[in-house]
Amino acid sequence: MKDINYESLISPFFPDAELAAQLEQLDQEAMNPCWNHAAWQSFFLEKAEGRYLLSLAHSKKAQKLIGFALFQLVPEEELAHLLKIAVSEKFRRQAVARNLFADFLPCLQKRGIRKMFLEVEESNLAAISFYEAQGFKKLHTMQHFYGFNRHGVSMLWQVAE
Ligand SMILES: CC(C)(COP(=O)(O)OP(=O)(O)OC[C@H]1O[C@@H](n2cnc3c(N)ncnc32)[C@H](O)[C@@H]1OP(=O)(O)O)[C@@H](O)C(=O)NCCC(=O)NCCS
Repeated sequence: MKDINYESLISPFFPDAELAAQLEQLDQEAMNPCWNHAAWQSFFLEKAEGRYLLSLAHSKKAQKLIGFALFQLVPEEELAHLLKIAVSEKFRRQAVARNLFADFLPCLQKRGIRKMFLEVEESNLAAISFYEAQGFKKLHTMQHFYGFNRHGVSMLWQVAE
């Protein structure tokens, strides 16, 4: 039986307390910078229809959230901004993020999204390799984007013409 379930949801979100806590915890474990509790709470109170997409990977065996991706959508520009993507350390390199990508992509395309944009720290080679493997191309380097001497890279994915 397949252990991991994938699903992609469009805002507004109404997560139960357990899912909200797991998202916050995975964000803290995997992302630097991450959002604090207040930022997650105010995000869940944000009820703007269709402005965010949240993609989830849940392990039945581990009975918990093991990966997620969060996008801000700008449909008028056919654009999705990837705010966060994270996979629990124990589950990395097992195609969880690749499967998240396969789950959210048709969902984005159904909403007319043709481009995805993101920023990533230049030293985060695992994430950059992952994005390149999905077809993202580097756009610009942004000096000190994440703090002193922590440079950022912007990347773009677009539907092939
Ligand atoms: C980036 C991240 C989401 C990738 O998740 P993952 O589930 O481990 O990735 P996948 O197993 O789906 O990898 C798919 C492909 O991406 C590339 N890739 C992923 N991790 C890699 C690594 N550590 N080194 C090199 N290439 C890597 C490979 O091409 C891989 O295919 P392969 O395993 O067949 O070689 C994960 O490393 C993570 O959560 N990192 C911490 C959070 C983070 O940095 N998020 C991005 C912030 S901008």
